[in-house]
Parts: sequence; structure tokens; C-alpha cells
Amino acid sequence: MINLSDLRRFKKEGRKFSCLTCYDASMAKAMETAQIDSVLIGDSLGMTIQGHDSTLPVTVRDIVYHTACVRRANQHAFLMADLPFMAYATTKDALKNAKKVMQAGAQMVKIEGGAWLSDTVASLTRNGIPVCMHLGLTPQSVHVLGGYKVQARTRQSADALLQECKMLVDAGAAILLLECVPAQVGKEVAQAFPEIPVIGIGAGADTDGQVLVVQDMLGLTDGHVAKFVYNFMSKQSGPYAILDAITTYHQAVIKNTFPALEQTFQIELK
Ligand code: KIV
Repeated sequence: MINLSDLRRFKKEGRKFSCLTCYDASMAKAMETAQIDSVLIGDSLGMTIQGHDSTLPVTVRDIVYHTACVRRANQHAFLMADLPFMAYATTKDALKNAKKVMQAGAQMVKIEGGAWLSDTVASLTRNGIPVCMHLGLTPQSVHVLGGYKVQARTRQSADALLQECKMLVDAGAAILLLECVPAQVGKEVAQAFPEIPVIGIGAGADTDGQVLVVQDMLGLTDGHVAKFVYNFMSKQSGPYAILDAITTYHQAVIKNTFPALEQTFQIELK
């Protein structure tokens, strides 16, 4: 089973790693067969599984249930699970809820936010729970951000993001995940922290790992398709099309052919 040391080693060796969201046993087994490096029980399940229009209704109980489903069927991938909306509003809540998610089979929890969560990160880490910090576009704060928009578009806001990352890494964050930022920002963050694997979704080709929502990369999107998504099903046919699409995604990530320029926010920072 892949662990945090493996992801750190991949970064050191310049070997990119793949990550997909996963919520159920059948897909978890397909991802094991395809050798996906890491899976995320994301609170995106609020949309993809439950049909809500945001991640806000997802509960700790939902994440625990789906984490256990995935872990039973996949013994290969490094398994990260989201702490959902308001599950880490206090350090005490974070510890209580992270305990449940880790006991369901996660190897790491992911939380969204910035430097104001430094104490929470330190407390979780001290208690044996590694933390992935999700920055950039943070969907749990969609109402504060005013929509799903590219973040850190100016030099000033990119520097502020780098500073937040530094404070969180100093507090113990073991992985950073950047969503919807210019490719230049993804590159700068990955280079600024040689010991910390940086995962991107819409953060360009220079992060150490890539993640996509599995339904998006299988073309199961309803309406709007984000710029950073590529439909890996579009070139598949035959009885193993889903498995082939997932394998093709893994290969494209490790060969660094995904994301291509078309899936990247090329924004000059001014
Ligand atoms: O919940 C999720 O699927 C995520 C990804 C967008 C990274 O956090």
C-alpha cells in the first residue's frame, strides 16, 4: 500500500503521481487494477453521489461510510478523506471527526482553508493524523468566494497564497492541494516546498500530483465541464472502457502529458 513516504519519494525522484476521487467499492477496485497512486474520498460526493448542488450538505457520517467502502476494495492507493463542511470548525471537532475518518481506513484527512487553521493542523498532526491542506478554490467556502472562480490571479494574491502555504507547512501540513489557480502558481508552490507533495486540480502541469473527480474524467458531467477536465472515456470502446480510461489517466499523469495546455489556466501574474 502506498504511504506518505512513497509520495514524498515520488516528488524527490520527479515521478508524478495520480489521484482520483472515489466513493464506492467497484470504482475502488478498478482504480486498484489501474494502479492509481492515491484516492480521495472527496466531499464532492455531495454532488456526484447525492445530487446536491454543493458540498455543504455532506456529513462526517457520509465520509466515514464511503471511506470504509473504498478501503475494503482497494489495498494499493494512498487513501485521503475530506473532513466536510463545519467538521473542523474547532480543534476539538477536528480531532473528534478526523478520528472517525481515520478509523474507517483513511491514511490522511484533507481540510480546506488557510493559515487560520494552523493550530488545527498542528493538533491533528501531533495526534498522529497527517493533514492535506486544500487551498486556492475551496468549494466549502463557495458562498464567501462568490462562485467557483480561478483564485490567486495577481502577483499579490499569489504571494499571499504562498505565505499561507508556508505557515501551514510550518504547522505540520504534509500535503498541499491547489484547486483552480494559474499554472505559474502551481509551479511556484511545488518548487517552494521540496519536501511536500503538491497535488493540483486546475493548477497546471508542474504540481507533483494530479487529481480529478472520477465522474468528470469519465464524461459523466451534467452540463458545465470545467476547463481543467479531460474526458478520458472519449477515446475508449469495448468491454473494459472504464478501466482503460482510468489506466490511460494514470499513464498520462505519470508521463506528464496531462494536464495539457488546454486544461491549464495560463494567466500572467501582474
Ligand atoms: O471533494 C473533492 O472532490 C475535492 C477535489 C476537487 C480535489 O476536494
